[in-house]
This record gives sequence, structure tokens and C-alpha cells, in this order.
Amino acid sequence: MMSRTIVITGGAGFIGSHVVRLFVNKYPNYKIINLDKLTYAGNLANLRDVEKAPNYKFAKIDICDFDSVYDLICREHVDGIIHLAAESHVDRSIKDPFTFARTNVLGTLSMLQAAKLYWESLPEKYEGKRFYHISTDEVYGALELTDPEGVEPPFTTRASSGTHHLAYGHDFFYETTKYNPHSPYSASKASSDHFVRAFHDTYGMPTIVTNCSNNYGPYQFPEKLIPLFINNIKHRKPLPVYGKGENVRDWLYVEDHARAIDLIFHNGKVADTYNIGGFNEWKNIDIIKVVIATVDRLLGRKEGEDLNLITFVTDRAGHDMRYAIDSTKLQKELGWEPSLQFEEGIEKTVRWYLDNQQWLDNVTSGDYQQYYEKMYSGR
Ligand code: NAD
Ligand code: TYD
Repeated sequence: MMSRTIVITGGAGFIGSHVVRLFVNKYPNYKIINLDKLTYAGNLANLRDVEKAPNYKFAKIDICDFDSVYDLICREHVDGIIHLAAESHVDRSIKDPFTFARTNVLGTLSMLQAAKLYWESLPEKYEGKRFYHISTDEVYGALELTDPEGVEPPFTTRASSGTHHLAYGHDFFYETTKYNPHSPYSASKASSDHFVRAFHDTYGMPTIVTNCSNNYGPYQFPEKLIPLFINNIKHRKPLPVYGKGENVRDWLYVEDHARAIDLIFHNGKVADTYNIGGFNEWKNIDIIKVVIATVDRLLGRKEGEDLNLITFVTDRAGHDMRYAIDSTKLQKELGWEPSLQFEEGIEKTVRWYLDNQQWLDNVTSGDYQQYYEKMYSGR
């Protein structure tokens, strides 16, 4: 198999660490460079099992630092970029939108421009090169909870692939859906997606964009719904449910996203867009009840014992009602499908967090940052 040098940005984060692990283990003849600034969300402990692999290298770089990015891409003769580095939490974006514009928009532009200058300097130019940008379904905006036939949702509906699944509305996000972001986070991701497409249309850069639904699984920072609630249930802390808990999200196990990224990086069509999602819609309140039941069962607590931790709080500003991805194109064109049923994925996830309390304690206390600051300072 061809050897390649691939930069994965944001590889110390939640999804990035699963992508790095998959590529390092699956492609021993690729050189995988994890480019990460190590913000609060970046944690090299997520990659302990691969950090000594001969085909893995870490570079502590801010994607907004154009000179350092350009220097690395030239020095390492990089021919593929999988770009995940971003500020990723909606609640933080509401408090601090500038950081999101800086990292997600300017940082992506800096990655694009550095790749462009290097690749255009080569005799073969863009041949065999690839800039793959990882984005979110949130750029499409929000869908309604609809019940046109008077049936109480969720009701069984048919995806364009013909498969039946449960849905909270009849509309879905397609690759052709118009962008309509509402939060500073989704606005910054939408902007970065536009820049990526502009680099294809203007300079001929071989780009790909994918838009994925909510991910869950091991190594997710416990500010996001599922890991935050697992940790709170374990410690019997209140579970802050925004609004009435009626909002719907479409959940995908993180390793299924990583497998899709691998497939699309290698076989996706240049300049194309793919939606990634497992047709797995859940109301927040229902998912919370599943998480409570799973934690209680695995800790040997009485069934439903912790339901009283549910605490309804003021809704998130501009809270998008429903996300639902139609991933038929990816399923039909590239043969991808999710590997896990949601109940299995949640069980694996809850087990992982309960078995890795040390990891959770380190990230909630911030200790991991001091440790790795010392270890990697000066690199
Ligand atoms: P995360 O917050 O867990 O990790 C982000 C990583 O990027 C961290 O390692 C962080 O240190 C790094 N980073 C942040 N700013 C940086 C900078 N300026 N320079 C270099 N590195 C920087 O995020 P995640 O949940 O793993 O998401 C990864 C990507 O996938 C993001 O682009 C996000 O928009 C997208 N996405 C996430 C989800 C989800 O459910 N988490 C769903 C769809 C798409
Ligand atoms: P989150 O994990 O932040 O992902 P996103 O906002 O990108 O979808 O939130 C998932 C859903 O859970 C979202 O509808 C907001 C809700 N939520 C709560 O109700 N309470 C919380 O403490 C958090 C973090 C999220």
C-alpha cells in the first residue's frame, strides 16, 4: 500500500483521538502527525495506547499560527490533511464567540492557505493530495418537530434509502439542504465549510467536507450532555436539563464516525459533501433516562433510583429543536453503515466512563493540562 504523510488536526480531542488511533493502527506505512494546540479539550492521555507507535508523531501547534503550520506541512511533505481541530461546544460559543471565529474560521483558513502554498509549489501540484474538512449537521440549522398525521412522534418513517426508522419529523438534513446556522458555533463551522469549498472552486484544491450528527463515546469531554450526565449521576449531582428536554438530537457512536472518515478520506469524491449519521433520533429527556438506567444498573443501584437528579433549568439561548441527518448518499455510494445499535453504544460508553474515573477526574480538575504542558513544552 502507498505510503502517505497525513496531518490530523485536533487529534488530541474526542473524535480526533479515535481517528488518529484508527489510522495509526490500520495504516502502519502512513506517517500520522497529530497537530493540536492542546486547548482545554485536547488531552494526549486520549492517545496513550498509540503514542509510542513508530508511525505516530505529535506537534503542538495552534492552527491559527500560519508560519508554524506551513513549516510543518513543508518539512514533513504532507499529502493529506484531515481537519478536525475546532472549538466545539455550543454553550461556550454563546459566552465567547470570538474564540470560535478565530479558531474555526481563521484557523481553517490558515490550514487551507498553508496546504495550498505547499502543494502548488510541487511539480505534481494537487495530484494525490487531499484536504478533508470535518464539519457538523448544525450548519443546516434546526428542523421542526412535526406530526402532520396526528401520530405522536417518534413515528416510523422512510429514509430516501428506503430503510425504516423512528423520526420526530418528516424533514431531514440532506447534502443539498441550505445552510442556516443559529449558534455562534454553527455559524463559525458554516463559514469554515464555505472557505473549504472556495479553495476547491478557486484554486482547484482537492477538498471534501462531511457533516456529521452528534457523536458519543469514550474520551468525550464531560461538558457535553452524555459524559457530563454519566459523571453527575455517578456522583449524585443534579442533571441540568435545558428547557423541557424535548429537543431532539441524532446520535452516532464515535468509532462509526471514525470509520466513515477513513472510508471517505480514501474513497470519497473530490469536491463532494457527505452527511454522516445513523438515523438515530432521541429526545434529550429519553436519552437521559436511558443513561440513568444504565449507570444505575452498572453500579448496582436500584432501578430508576437517580431519576430525581433530573433538574429542568433555563433553556439554552437559541436552542435548536431537532437535528436529523439523512446519510443515504454515504450508505449507497460508499457502503458505510453504523455498526452499533444505540443501546449497545450507550452501554459501552457508560462502562468506559465508569472504568476510567481517573481520566474523568483529571479532565474535570484540569490536571492533565499541567502534566502535558511540562512534557511537551518547547516542541
Ligand atoms: P473536541 O472539542 O473534543 O476537540 C477539539 C480538538 O481541537 C482538541 O484536541 C483541541 O485541543 C484542538 N484545538 C482546538 N483549537 C485548536 C487550535 N487553535 N489549534 C490546534 N488545535 C486546536 O472536539 P470534537 O467533539 O472531537 O470535534 C472534532 C471536530 O468534529 C470539530 O471540528 C467539530 O466541529 C466536529 N464535529 C463534532 C461533533 C460532535 O458531536 N462532537 C459532531 C460533528 C462534527
Ligand atoms: P451537547 O452535548 O452540548 O451537543 P449539541 O449542543 O452540539 O447538540 O447537547 C446535546 C443536547 O443536550 C442539546 O439539545 C442541549 C442539551 N443539554 C442539556 O439539556 N443539558 C446540558 O447540560 C447539556 C450540556 C446539553
